[in-house]
Amino acid sequence: MRRRGGTLRSLMPEGSEINAMFGKIARRYDLANTLLSGGACHWWTRRLARRAGAFLGGKGVVADLATGSGDVAFALAAAAPDATVRGFDFCEPMLDVARSRLAQKDSALGGRVSFAFGDCMALPLDDASVDAVTVAYGVRNFQDRARGLAEIFRVLRPGGAVFVLEFTQPRAWFRPFYTFYLRRILPWLARVATGNKDAYDYLAGSILNFPAADAFSQELRSVGFSAVNADLLTFGVVALHRAVK
Ligand SMILES: C[S@@+](CC[C@H](N)C(=O)[O-])C[C@H]1O[C@@H](n2cnc3c(N)ncnc32)[C@H](O)[C@@H]1O
Repeated sequence: MRRRGGTLRSLMPEGSEINAMFGKIARRYDLANTLLSGGACHWWTRRLARRAGAFLGGKGVVADLATGSGDVAFALAAAAPDATVRGFDFCEPMLDVARSRLAQKDSALGGRVSFAFGDCMALPLDDASVDAVTVAYGVRNFQDRARGLAEIFRVLRPGGAVFVLEFTQPRAWFRPFYTFYLRRILPWLARVATGNKDAYDYLAGSILNFPAADAFSQELRSVGFSAVNADLLTFGVVALHRAVK
């Protein structure tokens, strides 16, 4: 996958390539997630949803960005029973999976969840129009992270919060095992699950290149967020970040 020129941007992917890559794996994405994380992804998602649901007091409007197949959006609807959940993604095949899952659940959700096209570089949302934003494993794929974080800041109301679930740099003792898994095992497991090894070669590289939790907290502060914190989960494989506008 080509990288953009410059320093920080040189580590960021092209949006069109990301979009095409997720388009190719959309139908097997959920299965691959469960397999590659040993099921931990479901626990991480629930943690994110419960934390955002508690912040919302169960109600309000939440935008789930880079929503993919909608896992976080559905978990949010359960964790915040009176909230409206709007999922956005720029990859139509991923949105198709989310919408077909929604069709099976919609009567139970009472129309509180919806999915729409939305590029995180230019969100189709008014300024200060949402109470909370969630992003799971999306920020790492943004072609311009500073721009994406600034968009999140723009759409949040003052006092609103963003919750970012993202891979991070694990604890030092665990790092060699983890790097071996990412470089040597994950791409082959992914090929079995999705038929697409390239996408997961990219995934491994993007995880290893993503900033540590402290450095990402600093990026959140630099676009204007305060009360920034991060909880490391599962030996620091992922971090759950929270920041307030
Ligand atoms: C790893 S998946 C995460 C999906 C979901 N949040 C989850 O928890 O499973 C990353 C998603 O980010 C989306 N994405 C990446 N960059 C985006 C952008 N600039 N705007 C909208 N969606 C984006 C991709 O299309 C893909 O569906």
